Amino acid sequence: MSSLAAQKTAGFSALLEARNLTRILPAVVPVTLVEDISFEVGEAEFVAITGPSGSGKSSLLYLLGLLDRPTRGDVLIRGTKTDELSSAELSQVRLEQIGFVFQFHFLLPEFSVLDNVMIPMQKLGKLPQRDQLDHAKTLLADLGLEEFLHRLPAQLSGGQRQRVAVARALANTPDLILADEPTGSLDSSATEQVFESLQKIVETQNTTVVAVTHDLDIASRMERRIHLVDGRIDYDRHR
Ligand SMILES: Nc1ncnc2c1ncn2[C@@H]1O[C@H](COP(=O)(O)OP(=O)(O)O)[C@@H](O)[C@H]1O
Ligand SMILES: [Mg+2]
Repeated sequence: MSSLAAQKTAGFSALLEARNLTRILPAVVPVTLVEDISFEVGEAEFVAITGPSGSGKSSLLYLLGLLDRPTRGDVLIRGTKTDELSSAELSQVRLEQIGFVFQFHFLLPEFSVLDNVMIPMQKLGKLPQRDQLDHAKTLLADLGLEEFLHRLPAQLSGGQRQRVAVARALANTPDLILADEPTGSLDSSATEQVFESLQKIVETQNTTVVAVTHDLDIASRMERRIHLVDGRIDYDRHR
């Protein structure tokens, strides 16, 4: 049994836990990005991270997504501590268990919509080629993009591109989607579509979504809000 499986059977663990996370950038005058952040997030939660510009939202999301390492504290995924994992092991956890959506879509411009969604599956290599294609088509159809499978990202609107990015984040069926201002560069109707697609993922697939947003209308429609000020949690409350 893998250590992850052993811990799973040992008892309840939150899907994601931030445990006393502090990140300080070393410099002549060190910069504290986040300080002593602790919370747990369970399955099928829809969580907003809010706060003023510069309050540490992106820094926190990078730590939660194992893209950056804390100075102190740890991130636990289903009870498994990640501070002792190697870079290769962290990459594998990210690939298998976490989907990312950023403000800018970061789709590969020279690949079709379908290929962009299949690339993470190819990287993981768990599904046979045939199933990868079917799975990508299903994800894209669920997001209302079935007409655009063979288009290039540049041939789509901003909202459509961002929905492709959501489909790509779902490619390996992660338990957790982390999104940093996923609607930050979209107009209001595209914002609504992307928001609804994230909400649907939480409701129908039990996936947890943690999304940084400065859109307070969007945040108020999410079940839980963690508000940061100066790198610390100001409040963490349910709607
Ligand atoms: N590489 C860096 N060098 C220096 N300061 C940084 C760096 N990255 C972030 N910061 C600072 O850390 C703080 C938190 O940044 P960030 O997490 O991006 O905030 P937010 O996403 O809430 O706007 C800000 O004051 C920012 O200027
Ligand atoms: Mg940010």
